[in-house]
Amino acid sequence: MTEMNIDIDALMHELEELAAFSDTPPPSVTRVLWTETDQKARAYLKRRIEEAGFSWREDAIGNIFATFEGKNPRLPKVGTGSHIDAIPHAGKYDGTVGVLGGLEAMRALKRSGFQPRRSIELLVFNAEEPTRFGVGCLGSRMLSGALKPEEALKFRDQDHMSFDDARAQGGFLGDLGKVQLSDQHYFAFVELHIEQMPNLEKAGLPIGVVTAIAAPSSFKLHLTGQGGHAGAVLMPDRKDAFLAASEIALCIEQAVKDHGTIDTVGTVGLVQVHPNAINSIPSKVELGVDLRDIEATRRDRVLQSLLQAAEDICLKRGIRMELEMLNQDPPSKSDPMLVKTIQSNCEKLGIPYQNMVSRAYHDSLFMARIAPTAMIFIPCKDGISHRPDEYASPEHIRTGVEVLAGVLRDLGEV
Ligand code: GLV
Ligand code: MN
Ligand code: MN
Ligand code: MN
Repeated sequence: MTEMNIDIDALMHELEELAAFSDTPPPSVTRVLWTETDQKARAYLKRRIEEAGFSWREDAIGNIFATFEGKNPRLPKVGTGSHIDAIPHAGKYDGTVGVLGGLEAMRALKRSGFQPRRSIELLVFNAEEPTRFGVGCLGSRMLSGALKPEEALKFRDQDHMSFDDARAQGGFLGDLGKVQLSDQHYFAFVELHIEQMPNLEKAGLPIGVVTAIAAPSSFKLHLTGQGGHAGAVLMPDRKDAFLAASEIALCIEQAVKDHGTIDTVGTVGLVQVHPNAINSIPSKVELGVDLRDIEATRRDRVLQSLLQAAEDICLKRGIRMELEMLNQDPPSKSDPMLVKTIQSNCEKLGIPYQNMVSRAYHDSLFMARIAPTAMIFIPCKDGISHRPDEYASPEHIRTGVEVLAGVLRDLGEV
């Protein structure tokens, strides 16, 4: 077995450099699909890939593929990667550890003199976060065929810009029909990511082996009532859309608690009030709701019960409600052979680990539809993520990359 040296100083430096491409000031990171900042971050990443001596290509939506060519490049490849987009006011490690860490794993293998039999490919997914078009995992959804071009073309962002205009602004004009990958493209796909929960830290373990990813869903409720003068319209005469929204939000919490389990979580993370003026009765409200569970059937039962409760509230208050379903995805299971490969690499290196379920979704949720897939988690401080104070230590990042490199090496030789 060849000795592998992870250059953790270079990797930490690159994570810092990448974090500087942000639309909000440090320590926060905001990087949204196809913006100028996103373009600059991509250019930075492509320079790092070229410097490492790997070739790259980009598809019609901007998923980036960097290749460490194997002795038999026609064999299905071994893939690794994650995302570099960041929700507003996020931190520097979500996604980027799997991208720059994946690149470092490939560089370390190359430095050790290793050449795989199968090519190893770094995949930088487009827009894992739902920031721009409201749907998460845009890149992997399209790569896996779960989202078809004709559906994506209907998307509009919050400024009503169409998917294709936004894509063109990002510099991508190619054929959307060519984005979907064949299920023969990857022999295996392994994603390295921060845990985003405190379990590993609490257990004092450096590695989590992900055996399943929970089922996410999200939807919008468009509520329409009647606006009016805040001083002139008497209380019995009102159809206040925000009051209905408030009651619905609390009832979502109740439905999750009453009909779900500790594994069921519901969040009203988005509220838009119209006209949003202090002396005007809200006439329209848009609520954005995220609902998840490790079991899709239970999630869907909770969904039905909360929608029924929301309808009852609207009926009582004279409000019109429209449901816009954004996504309702099934959970995914990791491939047992890949789980074993990760575990045996930890054992070889004397690294303790535990198996775990990912409650956050990841691009691996969709990659699992077209390839055997698994994930490696490393701890992050206090489990904090999607916040500027998100932190993963160099030691944990190094361990994660070392395990990933061993896994890629093993799979590259199969
Ligand atoms: C990913 O960011 C998620 O919301 O799970
Ligand atoms: Mn995230
Ligand atoms: Mn992520
Ligand atoms: Mn995410």
